Amino acid sequence: MPMNFDPESLLLSIRGLLDEDSKKKLSHLGNALSLLKGSLPEKAWVGIYWKDENADRLLLGPFQGTPACEEIPVGKGVVGVCFEQRKTIVVEDVHLFPGYICCDPVASSEICVPLFQGEKPVGVLDIDYPKGFTPKGEEGFYEALAEILEKLK
Ligand code: SME
Repeated sequence: MPMNFDPESLLLSIRGLLDEDSKKKLSHLGNALSLLKGSLPEKAWVGIYWKDENADRLLLGPFQGTPACEEIPVGKGVVGVCFEQRKTIVVEDVHLFPGYICCDPVASSEICVPLFQGEKPVGVLDIDYPKGFTPKGEEGFYEALAEILEKLK
């Protein structure tokens, strides 16, 4: 990971920008993702897919990076499998993941973390990394981050 990736201070910064104004949830999400993206390799992509409450699919929510797939069926791709299995998925080489959905050919590895409201899965935090970087060893950080983000739905 790049030198400026400091999980603890990143979580502190993200928590620091939150307040109790429920009308600012989308603003908070955008800023949290911006802080995260700024600490990752330049071509990383960070975003959230929310479950469509009326269909078996996830829809693109706030994100930072290049344009991305707007719709992913539950159970398909890394995002859909993460949501279906309700667990973090780390993919070191996206080309080896069966059913991988490519939104940007720059992506080389990926981590998806499920987002919950109570026991109910409501979405997925998705991060794509360019070649040379993997999220290995930082899963605890991403889950702590997911706990913040899921409150901002
Ligand atoms: N690669 C994902 C699709 C979303 S993009 O990476 C932004 C997947 O396989 O589900």
